[in-house]
Amino acid sequence: MFQPRIIGALTAVGLLTQSPFLFLATGALLVWSALLPKLNPFEALYMALVARPRGLPRIDTAPPPRRFAQGMAATFMLGIALALLSAHATVAFILEALLVAALLALIFGRFCLGSYVYHVVTGRLAFANRTLPWRREAMSSLPDYVLHNREHWDKQAPGYVAGGERHWAAENPTWGIWSVPESEIRMIPDDISTRDVIELGCGTAYVSSWLARRGAKVVGIDNSEQQLETARRLQKQHGLEFPLIHGNAESVPYPDQSFDFAISEYGACLWADPKKWVAEAARLLRPGGRLHFLTNAFLLMLCAEEDETKPAPERLLRPAFGIYKMEWPGESGIEFHLSHADWVRLLRDSGFEIEDLIEIRPPEGASTRYGFVTLDWARKWPTEEVWKVKRK
Ligand SMILES: C[S@@+](CC[C@H](N)C(=O)[O-])C[C@H]1O[C@@H](n2cnc3c(N)ncnc32)[C@H](O)[C@@H]1O
Repeated sequence: MFQPRIIGALTAVGLLTQSPFLFLATGALLVWSALLPKLNPFEALYMALVARPRGLPRIDTAPPPRRFAQGMAATFMLGIALALLSAHATVAFILEALLVAALLALIFGRFCLGSYVYHVVTGRLAFANRTLPWRREAMSSLPDYVLHNREHWDKQAPGYVAGGERHWAAENPTWGIWSVPESEIRMIPDDISTRDVIELGCGTAYVSSWLARRGAKVVGIDNSEQQLETARRLQKQHGLEFPLIHGNAESVPYPDQSFDFAISEYGACLWADPKKWVAEAARLLRPGGRLHFLTNAFLLMLCAEEDETKPAPERLLRPAFGIYKMEWPGESGIEFHLSHADWVRLLRDSGFEIEDLIEIRPPEGASTRYGFVTLDWARKWPTEEVWKVKRK
C-alpha cells in the first residue's frame, strides 16, 4: 500500500493546486514503474524509508496485473495534465473524479480497478470477479471446507470436461461410477415437465441438461467456477440455457418453497455438510416436493483404501461410529459420509419422509474409470446408494 498512498498524496496535492505539471510528473513516474518494474522509484523509496530501517524484506517485482494498473493510473494522470494544459476543465474534472474513485477503492477497499480490468481483458472474468470487495466478504463467510472444496474442484475441473461432454450428448441418462441406466434406478421423477428443479452441486450440469430436455425449469448451483465454465460452454454448444449459480448449496439464493424437485449426484450430497444442505433442500422444496441423491455407499467408505488408486479390500479398514467429515490423506477435498441410521434421522428431522433407499448393484460386465473398487467387489456389496425422500 506504500505506492498507492504516495500516489494518493500526490493526487490530493494535484487536485488542490490543479497543477498539470504535477499530474504530468506523477504520470511519468507511473509509466516508468510499469515499463521498468525492477527500477520502480516508489519501491526504491519504500526500501530506503521503510523496509531497510525496520529490517523488512524487499518487495517482489510488480506482477503484470499491478503493472497494468500502474499504466492505467498513468493514462489518467497524463489525460488530466493534457486537459488542464488545454483548458478543458470539465474533461479534467471527470478524469480526476474517476482517478479519485479508483484510488479510494484501492486504499480503503483493497480493490484494484486496474488489476480487475487486466484479468477481464486477459479472459479471467471469474477470477476478476472474485476480487470484488463484496465477493471477498461473501467468500470469507464461507466455511473452511467449502473454500477447500472450491479450490479442490477448480483444480479437478479439467478432468471432468470429457465426462461432462459425453453425458451432455447422451440421450439416455446413466448414473454413478458404473453408468447404471435411468430405467434401473429412476432418479428422474415421471412428472418432471414444467416443474421447478434445482441441482445441488451440478458440476458440468449434465444432470440439469437431462432434466431441462424433459421440460423442467432447471437451476444449477455449484461451488466451482471452473466446473461452471465447462457447463456454460456446453449450454451454448447444445443450445440449452438455464440459470447456473456459483455458490454454496448450503445457502441457496432462492426464496423458501421455490422448487418441486432437488437432485444431487455426488454433488452437495457428498461435498457439503449434510446438516446444512439437507436443511437447505427442505427449505427450498414445496410440500410434496422430492429430493433424490446418489452418493458413495457407507459400506464402501468403511473399506476404501486411503490411496484411491488401490481397490477396496474385502475387509473393514475403519470404524463406522464417528464417521461424518472425511479428509483422505493427500487429497485436498473434504467429504461427508453418514451411516444409514444417521441419514434416516437427519432426513426425518429435516422434514422429509423416506420413500426409497437403493443400494446400487452394477450389472455384470459394467466398468468404471475409478480405481478405488473392482466390479467383483461391487457385485457383492453396495458401492453407491440412492436416497429418495419427499418433503412433508
Ligand atoms: C463429482 S461433481 C458432481 C457433478 C456431477 N454429477 C459429476 O458427478 O461429475 C462434484 C461437484 O460438487 C460441487 N460442490 C462441492 N461442494 C459444493 C457445495 N458446498 N455447494 C455446491 N456445489 C458443491 C463441486 O464443485 C463439484 O462440481
